[in-house]
Amino acid sequence: MTREGAEATRRTFLSGFIPERELPLLEGPPAEAGWDDVDAEGGPYPRLSAEFWTSKQRQASNLHEISYRACYKPQLPRHFIERLTKPGERVYDPFSGRGTTALEAALLGRRVAANDVNPLARMLAEPRLRPPEPAAVQARLGEIPTSGAAEVGADGLDLSMFFHADTEAEIRGLRQWFLDRDAAGELDDLDTWIRMVATNRLTGHSPGFFSVYTLPPNQALSADKQRQINAQRGQTPPYRDTHQLILKKTKQLLKGLEAAQRKHLRFAAQDARFLTGDARETGTLMDGCMSLTVTSPPFLDVVDYAGDNWLRCWFTGLDAETIGRGISTPRTVEAWSGTMAAVFAELHRLTRKGGFVAFEVGEVRRGKLRLDEVVLPLGLRAGFKAHGILVNRQAFTKTAHIWGVGNNDKGTNSNRVVLFERR
Ligand SMILES: C[S@@+](CC[C@H](N)C(=O)[O-])C[C@H]1O[C@@H](n2cnc3c(N)ncnc32)[C@H](O)[C@@H]1O
Repeated sequence: MTREGAEATRRTFLSGFIPERELPLLEGPPAEAGWDDVDAEGGPYPRLSAEFWTSKQRQASNLHEISYRACYKPQLPRHFIERLTKPGERVYDPFSGRGTTALEAALLGRRVAANDVNPLARMLAEPRLRPPEPAAVQARLGEIPTSGAAEVGADGLDLSMFFHADTEAEIRGLRQWFLDRDAAGELDDLDTWIRMVATNRLTGHSPGFFSVYTLPPNQALSADKQRQINAQRGQTPPYRDTHQLILKKTKQLLKGLEAAQRKHLRFAAQDARFLTGDARETGTLMDGCMSLTVTSPPFLDVVDYAGDNWLRCWFTGLDAETIGRGISTPRTVEAWSGTMAAVFAELHRLTRKGGFVAFEVGEVRRGKLRLDEVVLPLGLRAGFKAHGILVNRQAFTKTAHIWGVGNNDKGTNSNRVVLFERR
């Protein structure tokens, strides 16, 4: 690519693709940017490497602060939502995880749709479109029994290596409340909010969690491993006041939420679509209804889904083994491409003419495998036009500004986003 061509592309990537929009321009050009070409059908396509979304930008809403494996920063979907959609248009994520795309789109006044094969994803995302007032959460917590639920250990499940007996009684009280309310068809927004917060407070490494020191909530350890940690650290689970912790986390999540954002969330919640299923089969979503998709698929790594989520699934009444079987974890690039080709075919059906898909792949195999180069032909074959690839780099090392060579491929956490448009 010529220097002029690269500069023009960089400007477009920064400012957006909708001519009549007033777009939030980044302050001047990024400090350092690199570019090269990627060959594919109808190409070459520009690949630009820069700090597109940075920590210096407007801070993300606290409402995002829910842990989920392999989630991305809200600034990533925001970059594309602001530049490629207008308020009221629908933004989609077929691999939505904790719902970063959906929540950010909703906060920005867009309609949303989200899908994930893991039912926990919906439980974590949907309640945050309907944030309650802390006083209402406190009142509801007051109704939930802190004891008297199924006797601790009565079901043969020993959780004593994670929780103090009184904490466990409270957790079982919460669990039973949600299961009973659900069975009676009485589960409301307050319940789903509290369940979402509690699911995230179950286990972790600080006193803000219900458990004694352990791994973060998205990677529950086995009972045996936890016993080992307890022995190594000489720890026994202390009592934690679960209701106080739920209230505290609720306040943290809601901190700084502005009236305009609440209004946007209410608008999005009216007709938000949350699906639990395979990204290749979303037949209940209408043709051409999406203006933008921002998504990050599962990568080639092996995730022990059942192992990581057994405690959260127990708490929410889900079967971790069954869910684990539905999660796509192709081990080879060929198998991964086969799955993603079918996802692209479905995205092509769902995207309106002139709509966009921003498909993110992270750093895989320490940067040795460039999945963006695998993704590019998949989108083209599905019928999309490709604009190119944006590589967002967190921080530049002095020696690493020459594209394709350099230290950034090692250890840093860059996002590679292939940008397509539906013709
Ligand atoms: C990299 S994570 C996405 C995280 C998300 N961007 C966020 O910020 O939370 C990939 C997600 O894809 C889901 N997944 C895996 N296979 C799937 C499939 N075949 N269809 C739909 N979702 C799938 C996983 O459950 C996981 O939540």
